[in-house]
Amino acid sequence: MITYSHIPELRSALNASREKKKTIALVPTMGYLHDGHLSLVKKAKSENDVVVVSIFVNPSQFGPNEDFVRYPRNIERDTELANHAGCDILFNPSVEEMYPAGFSSYAVVEDISTVLEGKFRPTHFKGVTTVVLKLLNIVQPRIAYFGQKDAQQCVVISKMVNDLNLQSEISIVPTMREMDGLAMSSRNVYLNSEERKNAVVLNQSLQLAEKLIRNGERNPALIINEMMNMILSKNPTSIDYIEIVGSNDLEKKNTIENDETILIPLAVRFGATRLIDNIIIHV
Ligand code: PAF
Repeated sequence: MITYSHIPELRSALNASREKKKTIALVPTMGYLHDGHLSLVKKAKSENDVVVVSIFVNPSQFGPNEDFVRYPRNIERDTELANHAGCDILFNPSVEEMYPAGFSSYAVVEDISTVLEGKFRPTHFKGVTTVVLKLLNIVQPRIAYFGQKDAQQCVVISKMVNDLNLQSEISIVPTMREMDGLAMSSRNVYLNSEERKNAVVLNQSLQLAEKLIRNGERNPALIINEMMNMILSKNPTSIDYIEIVGSNDLEKKNTIENDETILIPLAVRFGATRLIDNIIIHV
């Protein structure tokens, strides 16, 4: 595995691979890799010749009062894990490399970036789509891999790729969970032991929603209410949202129809840590 920090060197290495007709994959990450990231790398390696993993804590997707500065980082550990999972090229640029002085161009996906996470983090998706568009342009992968845990991010990026006629395909990989069901996230390290125990309720509430729907419940308000009660019993600091929306358009459902695919995303705080999770259900 080779590490690059500069765009021109990375590009010339990738051009050499392209000349040899190698297929190239990209796994964009913010580092502090866990098994969820590594499952993306392994899938990418099983489907492509050259796997690029980017590690870049992207300042433009953090709001002013968010955790950019304290976001966990450990490049030595990440380098070893990525290498072991099958990464061929690690791209670890500096903030100046990605956003040089005078940088002023952004990619914005309207409407679907303003709901759910977008209501609580108004500038978040502008930062995500901008950095992902830059990474897709730099690497020009055949396929880029993203985790289902960030469900809205997957929908927003897929929309950008489609709207802007980008050539890369987007592959969405199922969420990896800890043994007790908590979705893997780099931010789980912020949880103290009590919060960590209580956070298991998020996946349990999603399982409850699925059970209610499978048993014939079609009223979103009632399902959300049951989920809220379950989560509230575990002392969250706040429930930012629980919604039932269309899996592609993120539009709120007033009723659930047979044979449609819905997404139930949620964001809940335990202590100071904000966690997101979701489930996709084909009814
Ligand atoms: O999902 C993430 O880790 C980030 O949002 C991404 C896609 C790497 C962009 O910074």
